[in-house]
Amino acid sequence: MTYSGSATPAALSGRFLLGGDLPVHRLGFGAMRLPTGTFRGPARDPETGIAVLRRAVELGVNHIDTAWFYRRGGVVANELIRTALAPYGEDLVIATKVGPLMGDDGPPSGQAGPHQLRGLVEDNLRTLGVDRLDLVYLRVGGMMDPGGESIADRYAALAELRAEGLIRHLGVSNVDAAQLAEARAIAPVAAVQNTFHVQDRGDAELLRQCEKEGIAYVPFFPLGGGHRPIDPARMAEVTARHQATAAQVALAWLLAASPAMLAIPGTGSLAHLEENTTASGIHLTPEDLTTLET
Ligand SMILES: NC(=O)c1ccc[n+]([C@@H]2O[C@H](COP(=O)([O-])OP(=O)(O)OC[C@H]3O[C@@H](n4cnc5c(N)ncnc54)[C@H](OP(=O)(O)O)[C@@H]3O)[C@@H](O)[C@H]2O)c1
Repeated sequence: MTYSGSATPAALSGRFLLGGDLPVHRLGFGAMRLPTGTFRGPARDPETGIAVLRRAVELGVNHIDTAWFYRRGGVVANELIRTALAPYGEDLVIATKVGPLMGDDGPPSGQAGPHQLRGLVEDNLRTLGVDRLDLVYLRVGGMMDPGGESIADRYAALAELRAEGLIRHLGVSNVDAAQLAEARAIAPVAAVQNTFHVQDRGDAELLRQCEKEGIAYVPFFPLGGGHRPIDPARMAEVTARHQATAAQVALAWLLAASPAMLAIPGTGSLAHLEENTTASGIHLTPEDLTTLET
């Protein structure tokens, strides 16, 4: 099916002004699954990744989340994005993140110190082929929950790169409320990216704070793709009511949870992309929400 302008599925999800000046549809796309489907799996076909990215934009997605370290066996998410979408449309917002130091193909091998962040920002500028990055998160801590350490030195280093014009907006990822406050005392925070989904709502208070302060809340693992998978059986009543899949209901729930919520479901599959993006057309009732949240 072909779409245009405000009639796209992603546009149906509504709009959020990132950093107060970058309009994005609230249903976006996460690029981590393009190079590989699982954390230790083989590389995926780059041509499929390119097709997924182009179709995402046709579906109205204008917020793509990536990282230079999303790569496997020579398939690099940033390079796929550049090949698929450059020259970029004026409305396309590409968010990336720095912080973890990665082995060539393996798991994180530590955290970058303040002086290493410039090089990581430059890696993103080069591989995405841009002069300025729209949104850069400082990604801190281990795999899942915030570690609680001070992020001041690293965030201040990114704020300097922003002042130099290499970055438009800053975000923080995998943080708690104290770390968010620490960052905000240094420079504005446009977005928080933490784990959160319909059955993993521990961050609800931080979400409310973001909503109040005009900060985007961008959950990672929105479909339970991490260590806390979603149990579809607990959603069966609502999925049946809407003749929708568990993934679609999980995304509809996120979009209903807050106007500051930006969903970035990740997939390397064209069929899953269509399914996820059309979740914007599902309107959950108060009864659905109660069922899903109990
Ligand atoms: N800040 C951070 O620390 C951090 C950490 C993780 C992720 N992220 C970002 O957040 C984005 C979203 O997280 P994620 O991709 O890891 O997890 P996710 O969106 O929760 O789930 C992705 C997983 O679900 C599968 N999937 C996608 N759509 C589906 C559908 N309709 N039906 C059934 N299965 C489906 C995918 O497989 P297929 O590919 O086969 O569809 C993949 O295995 C990432 O892409 C990345 O941009 C950030």
